[in-house]
Amino acid sequence: MSVKKICVFSGDGIGKEVMREALGILSTVEDISGKRLFETEEELLGGICYDACKVPLTEQGLLLARASDAILLGAVGGPKWDTLPFELRPERGLLGLRREMDMFANVRPAKVFEPLLDASPLRRGIVEGIDILVIRELAGGLYFGEPRGIFMIDGVETGINTEVYSRPEIERVARVAFTFARERKNGKLTSVDKSNVLESSVLWRKVVTEVGEKEFPDVPLSHILVDNCAMQLVLNPRQFDVMVTSNLFGDILTDEASMITGSIGMLPSASLGGTVGMYEPIHGSAPDIEGKGIANPLAMILSTGMMLRYSFGMYQEAAWVENAVDRVLAEGYRTADIYCEGKGKKVGTSEMGSLVCEAMRQIFGKE
Ligand code: IPM
Ligand code: MG
Repeated sequence: MSVKKICVFSGDGIGKEVMREALGILSTVEDISGKRLFETEEELLGGICYDACKVPLTEQGLLLARASDAILLGAVGGPKWDTLPFELRPERGLLGLRREMDMFANVRPAKVFEPLLDASPLRRGIVEGIDILVIRELAGGLYFGEPRGIFMIDGVETGINTEVYSRPEIERVARVAFTFARERKNGKLTSVDKSNVLESSVLWRKVVTEVGEKEFPDVPLSHILVDNCAMQLVLNPRQFDVMVTSNLFGDILTDEASMITGSIGMLPSASLGGTVGMYEPIHGSAPDIEGKGIANPLAMILSTGMMLRYSFGMYQEAAWVENAVDRVLAEGYRTADIYCEGKGKKVGTSEMGSLVCEAMRQIFGKE
């Protein structure tokens, strides 16, 4: 296998801290394999990029992303940049990257690790064995629709955003979701929309249904309204397997789903569909804990595992990462966000990263 080129955007806040641990995972994979497998190059994105270049994403950053085999991203944003004009905010850098690279399918697994059952605010009986895969449309919808802006209309200040979904945009993300559902044991797909109110959702439901009937008749499909879905996710998450939804609904529902797993610090993601896959935790830059060395690096580490699997086809290596996370949790190690008073051993960001690397070596040693 040729050396894989990885574009690294650590970004802001705890992004840098968790990225360090992800890079440690890559070095460990190389050590274990005894081969040079990865070449990483860092570029600026978000607030740190604005500070250096006066824009949240540079042409050079975009070029490197395009020329890479995969992208790893930490997190962007922070209070320091909150007063900037909208187009210069750190988040615009991230959204620009997603859109420019046409990463339309964001895969977010909300999977409960057995040792963390008590870390969820939901009862054990509700979260036990939960393994939900949310496919969030990422390159369209309310995030990007035109017209948008803040205008004076008849002398009244008015903020406007528009939800736009075309048939091809819905078809392509539906295909990704059906494909994931088909690959899972007893896989089924739930499409989430607001078709009782929004026309964009009426089309969404119609197109998802048609793609299912024509191309995936073997995959059971159901539809649910987003408000009911938000309730069902905490009432009875077991009813869900693979879910597909719009950009905005997916953003909201995956933060909610993360609490089933115990912490938003546990949820990785893969942004697929474009020419290059991008891998990032779903959490933000957490400015309140920046620099304290206490952030949970597991979402970033698991995102790195997803990169090995989806971009590089390194299935065995990806399994080392996932099994190592499982083992470290089973041994009782916890970052602050998943720590329950009196249970297990509280560790910081870098210690957690090193423990996962060590566990990977042990798992490899037993193979
Ligand atoms: C996410 C984040 C982003 C989003 C922000 C940082 C722009 O919340 O990846 O879920 O809204 O997509
Ligand atoms: Mg979000």
